[in-house]
Amino acid sequence: MKTWLQQLGIQKSNKGACCGEWRAGGPVSERVSPIDGQVLCRVRTATAADYEHAVERAREAFLRWRITPAPVRGETIRRFGAVLRERKPDLARLVTLETGKILVEAEGEVQEMIDICDFAVGLSRQLHGLTIASERPKHRLMEQWHPLGVVGVITAFNFPVAVWAWNSALAAVCGDAIVWKPSNKTPLCAIAVTRIAERVCRETGVDPAIFTLLIGGAEVLGEQLSADARIPLISATGSCEMGFQLARTVHARLGRTILELGGNNAVIVMPSADLDLAARAIFFGAVGTAGQRCTTTRRVIAHESVHSALKAKLLAAYRSIRIGNPLDRRTLMGPLIDPQAVKTMMKAIERLKREGGTILCGGEPLTGRRYPGGCYVTPCLAEARNEFPLVKEETFAPLLYLIPCRNLDEAMAKNNDVPQGLSSAIFTNDLREAEAFLSVCGSDCGIANVNVGTSGAEIGGAFGGEKNTGGGRESGSDVWKSYMRRQTNTLNFSGELPLAQGIHFGDHP
Ligand code: UN1
Repeated sequence: MKTWLQQLGIQKSNKGACCGEWRAGGPVSERVSPIDGQVLCRVRTATAADYEHAVERAREAFLRWRITPAPVRGETIRRFGAVLRERKPDLARLVTLETGKILVEAEGEVQEMIDICDFAVGLSRQLHGLTIASERPKHRLMEQWHPLGVVGVITAFNFPVAVWAWNSALAAVCGDAIVWKPSNKTPLCAIAVTRIAERVCRETGVDPAIFTLLIGGAEVLGEQLSADARIPLISATGSCEMGFQLARTVHARLGRTILELGGNNAVIVMPSADLDLAARAIFFGAVGTAGQRCTTTRRVIAHESVHSALKAKLLAAYRSIRIGNPLDRRTLMGPLIDPQAVKTMMKAIERLKREGGTILCGGEPLTGRRYPGGCYVTPCLAEARNEFPLVKEETFAPLLYLIPCRNLDEAMAKNNDVPQGLSSAIFTNDLREAEAFLSVCGSDCGIANVNVGTSGAEIGGAFGGEKNTGGGRESGSDVWKSYMRRQTNTLNFSGELPLAQGIHFGDHP
């Protein structure tokens, strides 16, 4: 076992659940790196009984944590952010090893964790409610925000550490305890992060069970979590399919959700656009993280007057891309997450051809000595129509559709004519077009950008999307309110009992 991995608390054989103590009695699974198909280590998964024990421990921890003053809670997050700064290179390396994303992207992901910690520390002194003018004399009307409880966080493989941090840093300063079910494809990242959180909690004298971890199958843990009435909120990132399934159970018990599901993000390119800028943004948006971000650019809706010039620029970029080992700083695109993801991409390409699309370049598996493990592909650029059934779906791979359009109205209609509504962008130097795109009649997505691509959202804004993307918001802005319960308070110091709407008790016979 390499020293840097040991320093992150990763051993050859790891227990996959932590609620202050590490335990797990379920089957052992092997984690294979998509970089070369080699086994990284083994993880013993959590059982239904481990789940039960962990949620009880998180509940106990919550009861103490909720009465800890919020700025004191913030201190634990401040220290957590400080340790993350120290461990950033190693943690990023582990993210690369386990997900296959290139090092700069992995470092960017850890930076998002650090940034959200800073954000949460400031927030820990700003969890304020309103004072509202009461309609009754000598009354005060106000609202308070109280901690919510034990919240469930389900994360996907593509952002194995940042998405947990967006949720957990906020939830923790809000006074909640967190139960984390990470993707089974990235258990080691989850273990390393939980080890850091555990260490920081011990230093600040906080029960580490506020950062509980449970690694295990969706069939056991996912279902237990969603059905568990002790868990008032579940924040889940993943496919639309997963979201529909989870919502059925959580909403049936009137639990709350923050759903961050699939995207089908388009970039509109208008005649006045800076084409070099647009091409670079589209290229990064489409091949970054090997097309496995929920914000990945999947469609380019290009005005007919710039369509062929843009196509030429994109083709040049696609043909020059350096694919290979993501630990090598010269690489721009690493492998997909597993061989199954390659199969899914190849099937989508076959379907695209059947539906009438044209492959312009790429879309082939890469094999041979430079590409061990069966997860490398060339990114695919294709011509398609927005009406194709395949184009309405999110294929979690570097597969980009070029779609022509004749005017802005048609472009915006196409942008919106998919079931998902996460991210969108327009490239234009025409002020009126930009404003129209951002207006109520423009993009229907949770994120709409001008002259910036669809991915790479900052943590300071609310992150999430509409329609089948699930409607949830994570990260910055006033998202913290989702992790708290709002209480409306009326205080009467009049000595009388005036009712609302001007009615006095006793006015009526
Ligand atoms: C995701 O793919 O689940 O906007 C999140 C971005 C990143 C987050 C993506 N900050 O691309």
